[in-house]
Amino acid sequence: MIKNVFEVNNRGQPTPVSIDIDRHYAWVVAGPSGVGKSTFLRRLIGLISFYDETAEAYFMDFKADEDMFSMTGNHVARSFECLDLFETVYNRFKARLNKQEENSHNLYLIFDEWQAFLAYLEQTDKKKHKDILSKMLMMNSMGRSLGLRIILSSQRFLMVDLPGRYNFNCIISLSTSFLMSTNNRQLLFPDMEKDEVVVKPRGYGYFQLEGEPVKMFRTIQVRDEERLNQRIQELFSRYS
Ligand SMILES: Nc1ncnc2c1ncn2[C@@H]1O[C@H](COP(=O)(O)OP(=O)(O)OP(=O)(O)O)[C@@H](O)[C@H]1O
Ligand SMILES: [Mg+2]
Repeated sequence: MIKNVFEVNNRGQPTPVSIDIDRHYAWVVAGPSGVGKSTFLRRLIGLISFYDETAEAYFMDFKADEDMFSMTGNHVARSFECLDLFETVYNRFKARLNKQEENSHNLYLIFDEWQAFLAYLEQTDKKKHKDILSKMLMMNSMGRSLGLRIILSSQRFLMVDLPGRYNFNCIISLSTSFLMSTNNRQLLFPDMEKDEVVVKPRGYGYFQLEGEPVKMFRTIQVRDEERLNQRIQELFSRYS
């Protein structure tokens, strides 16, 4: 259980939200540039480190935002190295699928700027692009019982960027105004009507866990950056 992911307003009281990552195992974090996706992922990674004590995590930072993600080690990749690390995670998934790996601790694939990575692949290597999409589809349709946990962040989503869209069962929009666009709503929260969208400043968004209604949330600020950095580094050093 990952606690304190963000807070919702419950009869006037800010109430922290916990998400059962073993049930809601495939997340999409969406929002336009500058809205706070990387900041949100940073805090989330800290929570995973704290609440999932045996978690093993891989992080792909396609934008190479080293101010945001300064951690090092062989479980972290930046820019073009993301492809190799993605393949590493896929091979771990396959090893579990084929029962060559007996570990059952949770294995996290966390990818910042997923759609930028796909756009790059599509431009440079169409075959690889297709291959990566089909691997993602395999992982998000069969990974749950194998301990695979997937968290993708993206500025913009097209249906083709999200193979097996309905296997993603925790959808987070880090922007409210972003949902005024019919395209964004249809992809993220297909049942949400335009007049249900309440536009709020940065720090607010909407999320939906599969089987539950869309709810507004507010992000929680980091209080101790230094401790957060330590937790993040600890997580990515665990199995290296
Ligand atoms: N909840 C928040 N409230 C206020 N400011 C925030 C919040 N989240 C992030 N910020 C600030 O907004 C700026 C952009 O944040 P961040 O880099 O996380 O956005 P991003 O969505 O990852 O952007 P990009 O698409 O450019 O990578 C940072 O200066 C950050 O400190
Ligand atoms: Mg970012």
